[in-house]
Amino acid sequence: MKTNSSPKNDDTDKHQVSVACNLERLSIADAAVATNHEFFNNPEPIFDRSEFFDIAYHGYEGDVNFYSGRATSGDVLYLGSGTGRIFNKIWQLNRDVIGVDKSKSMISSLMRKNPCLKNGQIIEGDVLDLEFPGGSYDTIIAPYSFLPFFDPTNIEKLLRKIHSWLKPQGSFFTDIFSPFTNPPFNQTTELERSGTKGDLSYKIYNHYDHFSQHLTEITCIHNGSSHHDFEMNMYFYYPNELRRLIEESNLRVVDMWGDFLKKTAPSITSKVFVFHIKKP
Ligand SMILES: C[S@@+](CC[C@H](N)C(=O)[O-])C[C@H]1O[C@@H](n2cnc3c(N)ncnc32)[C@H](O)[C@@H]1O
Repeated sequence: MKTNSSPKNDDTDKHQVSVACNLERLSIADAAVATNHEFFNNPEPIFDRSEFFDIAYHGYEGDVNFYSGRATSGDVLYLGSGTGRIFNKIWQLNRDVIGVDKSKSMISSLMRKNPCLKNGQIIEGDVLDLEFPGGSYDTIIAPYSFLPFFDPTNIEKLLRKIHSWLKPQGSFFTDIFSPFTNPPFNQTTELERSGTKGDLSYKIYNHYDHFSQHLTEITCIHNGSSHHDFEMNMYFYYPNELRRLIEESNLRVVDMWGDFLKKTAPSITSKVFVFHIKKP
């Protein structure tokens, strides 16, 4: 997932980085052989270990203010509330916000950071299994490339649910990482970014399957002698492709930007595409 790394997290000291992570331009299978790394072929899902997610994933510049500014009032539903990076800021402004997440670990981390949440304010479950009465929400948000967690069939199912849950004229705000900055059409594992946090160093590798528009992201976290590998699986969508899926769900894209801060027009060099979608 293309993301922002703050400068302090980006000053990777080459000596701190695990040899097992030094895998640029190898296929995932080759990389496992080359390093003989026992976990690389069987990494844990990163959302099962929220403490490590927070080390390597910091969101996009300006996304916290963007989303919290759009959720200050009314009935708000947050899809994929995670460890609370954005959710807890919104909660300070709108105590009625409801979060949904399917990961116990991510939810526990959010609750630890915000013990004042009401019962039922965070729903544990897969959004595809959720049911709300039609027209329940003024605003639905799905930050940090949430839609790419769904394959094309399930993304349509989710968009139809979002359409049903929104009140008429309700807004849906979301973003996707740009597929245009992906490496050329070869099946390689590319180092996407790296950084340090305290004594820990991390490296994130992306493995693209262009034919299936699928991305496997491997996060390697190294701390002295201990080493952990994690995996995240996503699909990548082109902005016009997503626009078509949105419109087929009877929703309308009313604005699209190429960043969260200056809200520049989307372009081939944008790292992220930000959508304001409305139910007519
Ligand atoms: C990339 S994280 C983003 C977390 C948070 N929104 C942020 O910006 O830091 C995506 C979150 O979506 C959750 N998630 C992924 N697929 C889901 C699904 N089908 N139903 C509910 N939650 C899901 C994950 O557990 C994870 O917490």
